[in-house]
Amino acid sequence: MNSAQRHEYLTALGLDAWVRRDQPAAALLSRASTETSQELSTVTSLLAPVSPNTAREAGVDWPELRARVAACTRCALSATRTQTVFGVGNQQAEWLIVGEAPGAEEDRQGEPFVGRAGQLLNSMLRAIGLPREQVFIANVLKCRPPGNRDPAANESAECLPYLEQQIALLKPKIMLAVGRIAAQNLLRTDVTLGRLRQQVHRFGHSQVPLVVTYHPAYLLRTPGDKRKAWEDLKFAREVCANV
Ligand code: URA
Repeated sequence: MNSAQRHEYLTALGLDAWVRRDQPAAALLSRASTETSQELSTVTSLLAPVSPNTAREAGVDWPELRARVAACTRCALSATRTQTVFGVGNQQAEWLIVGEAPGAEEDRQGEPFVGRAGQLLNSMLRAIGLPREQVFIANVLKCRPPGNRDPAANESAECLPYLEQQIALLKPKIMLAVGRIAAQNLLRTDVTLGRLRQQVHRFGHSQVPLVVTYHPAYLLRTPGDKRKAWEDLKFAREVCANV
């Protein structure tokens, strides 16, 4: 991306086009590993595998996994969905973006992040040189919770094995969890988003590096935090470059 394009995208995010010089990733990573002992114990507690159910999904390819998701009745959301929202993107992607759950528009179209929040997500990704087509985008839940309520614990537990299998097929270099709900479900923690940002976590069986940032829907409501989201994206880019 040239600097004119970057300027355009940053402006679209409502950010000034200047950026401070990035810290080298090694420094960022070592900062993550030298957090206070309390924070370190938080990070350590996040390293446990997400679900023993993953073996259920082992050995499937993309079409088979997609078919299993489409036919899923593991939780009650199967009764209220229009369709499942499997995820979309490049099957060779280095980046896996994970949101919370499909909303009304995603439930209708069968694709994650297609509403206003999705447009902002696209702009955020382009700002770090990643067109939407170059990443893979999925959610913690493959089905829409009625009324866009938060995912229930059992829904998340039943659905996360599908994400684990998507990861097994994709082998991403980095995961970006967008929003508190996605981050807390993926990392099985109730630590606040503010404390989860700017650290390198590891996800599930695959131990993929995972970085947390704000949900684009939150950023639409709270544009003042776009600057922090931009810092998170640069942090994630540095981590990815050094995996
Ligand atoms: N919000 C999410 O977390 N995921 C979507 O797919 C859409 C909105």
